[in-house]
Amino acid sequence: MRFDEKKITLKDGRVCILKPAEPEPETAEALIDYMIQTAEETPFLLRYPDEIHYTIESEIAFLEHAAGDPRIIMMTAAVDGEVAGCASVNPVGGVRRVLHRGSLAIALKKKYWDLGIGTAMIAYLSGLAQEAGYEQLELGVIEGNDRAKMLYEKCGFAEMGKQVDAIRYDDGTYADEILMIRKLAGQK
Ligand SMILES: CC(C)(COP(=O)(O)OP(=O)(O)OC[C@H]1O[C@@H](n2cnc3c(N)ncnc32)[C@H](O)[C@@H]1OP(=O)(O)O)[C@@H](O)C(=O)NCCC(=O)NCCS
Repeated sequence: MRFDEKKITLKDGRVCILKPAEPEPETAEALIDYMIQTAEETPFLLRYPDEIHYTIESEIAFLEHAAGDPRIIMMTAAVDGEVAGCASVNPVGGVRRVLHRGSLAIALKKKYWDLGIGTAMIAYLSGLAQEAGYEQLELGVIEGNDRAKMLYEKCGFAEMGKQVDAIRYDDGTYADEILMIRKLAGQK
């Protein structure tokens, strides 16, 4: 999905630009580095760093697909020209009975946490998701990820259930995943 750039001012006074992830080599490379870095910095994402195998070519193809699909929203946040993070909305499925449901994901590099980027990205994504025809946004947050849960609650998501032992870490410990949903404005 194509959408306009949006400038926001962070809690530390810097400017952050929210924009579509462009299908070009520089962005693709920056996004692969960002995925590896965020996987290293937090245990609350799905993949371990050694499970990220994208190439610049495969990433460009993925971003081209996203840019051309009116129901996929792929947003980057840039600060001082660096990718600080990425957030997305994807369809839960392609059949009519689930077309109203969008799946939201977000991750930022650690040095950009707590500056208000997450709040701004979710606010912008929610409006775009509504324009794209979604009626509700859904996500899963791993138990213990208090910053993310606080962010989602602040943005209007409510806890709807729990997938027990959804995550198994390499050390053999498990974590539950909390399911959260936000009805978009104007929806029941
Ligand atoms: C979760 C994440 C996206 C939040 O983005 P962010 O830009 O840091 O969020 P914001 O700064 O907009 O808001 C965070 C809020 O949580 C609060 N917060 C910070 N640490 C907290 C904690 N330990 N417990 C509860 N709330 C906390 C902040 O005070 C802030 O609230 P406020 O703006 O009302 O003061 C970001 O920290 C991140 O990328 N984490 C790693 C990846 C991840 O966990 N992604 C989500 C997977 S479900």
